[in-house]
Formats: sequence, structure tokens, C-alpha cells
Amino acid sequence: MKLIVVINNKGGVGKTTSVVNLAASFARLGKKTLLVDLDPSASASIHLGFDKVITNHKTLCDYLLSENRILKDYIYPTSENNLFCLPSETALSEFYDEILQEEEVELFLNRKDFPKENDIVIFDTPPNMGNLAMNALAITDYALIPIQTQHMALTGLDLTIKLVEKAQRHLNPKLEILGYFGTNYDRRTNVAKEVYASIQSRFGNKVFNTVIGINSKLIEAYGAQKPILAYAPSARGTKEYKALAGEIIKRLK
Ligand SMILES: Nc1ncnc2c1ncn2[C@@H]1O[C@H](COP(=O)(O)OP(=O)(O)O)[C@@H](O)[C@H]1O
Ligand SMILES: [Mg+2]
Repeated sequence: MKLIVVINNKGGVGKTTSVVNLAASFARLGKKTLLVDLDPSASASIHLGFDKVITNHKTLCDYLLSENRILKDYIYPTSENNLFCLPSETALSEFYDEILQEEEVELFLNRKDFPKENDIVIFDTPPNMGNLAMNALAITDYALIPIQTQHMALTGLDLTIKLVEKAQRHLNPKLEILGYFGTNYDRRTNVAKEVYASIQSRFGNKVFNTVIGINSKLIEAYGAQKPILAYAPSARGTKEYKALAGEIIKRLK
């Protein structure tokens, strides 16, 4: 079982889109995959059809408030074979505190809580990392960092890397940065090419070869509450996320 957290301090860089579509791609590649939604905005959950306003399901928040804490009871199958979800809800924000000192991190979730039959557990995180994201960094094997290939993408990235290093120093020395990948790549623009080149020169072979291009089918798939591979099997976004998932699996030790 490998635990992967997708992080970037910035919002709107493609974290949630990547978590959902990578998770579905891992599942199609035969990996039993659990998506854990740590974002109180619950967009990954909603993407997979778990909208608390409509469906009356239990969430990570209910789990954290429960007395006997049996995680299995909060994990749901999705429309995709091999893909499971531990959904979030807005009330999870009660557990979201800003971290001032590493020593103050409260570990709500422990590695041993996750059923071992999963091959991959992938965590979506909120922007602006607080307790929940630090908790994920404290218990995962790998951090995976999406970078939007647009202007200003690299500002704020240092903060993300610093938080990973903090977690490595104080909470989880085994945590590794699995890699970086470009998102929202607009092939028509020079900005995208320039930003991507600067990512490559900075992070070298830690950058995955697959870049996720801008694809409106990804937005439509969110609206349809399905991973893109189910919504638009032949879309470019489907091919790219499948290719990226294949690269990621190869890198897992
Ligand atoms: N490759 C892409 N092409 C087009 N739209 C995208 C792409 N990736 C993400 N989006 C859209 O951009 C917005 C932000 O993406 P999201 O995954 O929610 O980012 P984050 O989780 O980092 O805040 C969403 O509306 C999403 O549908
Ligand atoms: Mg998100």
C-alpha cells in the first residue's frame, strides 16, 4: 500500500482534477485505489458523486467525530471498479487549523487506520495548508506536486516545498517528493512553454514527462460527476491522465 498526497499551496492549480482523474486511472490500471478527500470544499467527493447536500452519506468528518473510529465504515465504492472514496464535507473545516508550529500538528489520521488491501491511497488537500494537509504529509510515502504552467505558477511553490521539508524534518523523515507535473498547459502560448522549461530546469528528472493540457472535457466531467475516462474516453485529458498515472506507478517503490 502506497500513500500519496497531492499538494500545492495555491488554489486552482489542478489538484482536485488530478487526484480524481489519477485515482480513476490507477483503478483502471488494476490498482485498488482509495481517494481520501481532505478538502472541506469537498470538490473531489462531489466529482465522484458524493455531494452531502444530495446524498446522505457519512464523511471523513463523521469518522473523526465517531467514538470507535472504524475507517472502513466511511469508505464508499464509486461508479468505477477498484475506486473507492472517503468523502469530505464542509464541516471538516472544524478540523482545519492553521499550523504555527510543527509541534502543534494534531494527527487525526494515522497510517494504520487505512485498510491494507488498498494498493494506492491518494489524498486531495485544500489550498493553504493547515492541520489536515500536514496530517497527510505526516503519514504518506510521497508528495506529488502539480504546477500550473501559467504565469505566477512558481510563486508560492517555494512555500509548498518548505512545508514538505518541514514535514520531513519534524513529522515524517521517510516522506519523498515523488515528482512534479505540469497542469493547464496551453499549447498555443509561449508562456506555457517558458514556464514548463523553467520547471524542468529547476526540478530535472523529478518532472514527469506527461503534461496535462487545457481540456474543457475535464471541466465537463466534473459537472457530470464522473472521472474523465468515464465521461469522455477518447478525450485528450483521458489519455494524458492515464499516461501520467502509468508514469507515477512506475516510480512507486
Ligand atoms: N487541464 C485542465 N483543463 C481545463 N480546466 C481545468 C484543468 N484542470 C483543472 N481545470 C479546472 O480548473 C479549476 C481548478 O481546478 P482544481 O482541480 O479544482 O484545482 P485545485 O484543486 O488545485 O484548486 C476547476 O474548475 C477545474 O475544472
Ligand atoms: Mg481542490
